[in-house]
Amino acid sequence: METTHRVVVGDARELSTIGDDTVELVVTSPPYPMIEMWDDLFADLDPEIGEALATGDGQAAFDAMHDQLDRVWDELERVLVDGGIVCLNVGDATRSIGGRFRVYPNHARIIDAFESRGFDPLPDILWRKPANSAAKFMGSGMLPPNAYVTLEHEYILVFRKGGDSRSFEPRADRRYEAAYFWEERNRWFSDVWTDVQGELQALDTVDDDLRDRSAAFPLEIPYRLLCMYSAYGDTVLDPFWGTGTTSLAAMCAGRNSIGYELEPAFRDVFDDRVATVESLSRSIGQARLDRHREFVAEREADGDPPAYEAEAYDTDVVTKMERRIRFREVASVEPIGEGDGYRVTHRPLSIE
Ligand SMILES: C[S@@+](CC[C@H](N)C(=O)[O-])C[C@H]1O[C@@H](n2cnc3c(N)ncnc32)[C@H](O)[C@@H]1O
Repeated sequence: METTHRVVVGDARELSTIGDDTVELVVTSPPYPMIEMWDDLFADLDPEIGEALATGDGQAAFDAMHDQLDRVWDELERVLVDGGIVCLNVGDATRSIGGRFRVYPNHARIIDAFESRGFDPLPDILWRKPANSAAKFMGSGMLPPNAYVTLEHEYILVFRKGGDSRSFEPRADRRYEAAYFWEERNRWFSDVWTDVQGELQALDTVDDDLRDRSAAFPLEIPYRLLCMYSAYGDTVLDPFWGTGTTSLAAMCAGRNSIGYELEPAFRDVFDDRVATVESLSRSIGQARLDRHREFVAEREADGDPPAYEAEAYDTDVVTKMERRIRFREVASVEPIGEGDGYRVTHRPLSIE
């Protein structure tokens, strides 16, 4: 099986290299409006944003920043297939501007934007990030009533285009082999994620400093979302590609990807990450199977062993739907054109 991973240095407000109805899944994290690290970027997209910030008009800046993101949401509506899914990681912003402290509710503004474009909001996920407990108050410290709650969570908003789910041919290999384990389903489809900085994170090569500077999300976020909301061979788009975490996850998960990114320097960062993808893809499959076997051992110890046998791996599974699970590993990666992306060959992952 082969997948392609296109990288476009360009502006996601015009996804002109992507055809209508060609993308099955979007996984992305935009620059968050009203978070200071993105002020200059937004002001470059629209000079009125810089003026609103300079004059202390926070509401006008917030609205104008979202107007820019709205243009990208228009494009997502165009390129997604009917039934295609958008998973959008975003946090709200707290900020003092013009002498007033308040929260700028990015997640609520984005839900409105997608609803008004005809998307159906699906249940979202609260991703709870570990915070430094020493910084847990803001404002007036120990004296009521003017301290503020610390935001320690972000959202993963989920939307579906059109009213209907995607359909597949009966027993489609690319869907059944992409099944997840029962206990993965229970963790991944829970509405609060507290366990994201886990073992998969340790396998990723992006260091913490670069992660902070680029606002990269942990590999586990796009990897889980890809497994949850797409099948092998689907195409995932990240219009705010950054260091390419979504494409790295797509390579490991046997999906095609397309990334748009304004900042050309991130492509070099991605080259370094791709150099590890063959072993990364194997380690991810191995880690998932090891974890599953621990789960099976616990069930057996409790006198409640899973009822079915997996076909490709020496393990039992809880439901019939998991029997054909088969991970993919990356066999080879070759560049396409002059920095246009990569072609990846996959093979089924065999594990003893
Ligand atoms: C929050 S970061 C994404 C980080 C990414 N998820 C990762 O793991 O590295 C947002 C990215 O969007 C890019 N960006 C912002 N506006 C853009 C636009 N209009 N078109 C393309 N890229 C844009 C920024 O340069 C930045 O790299």
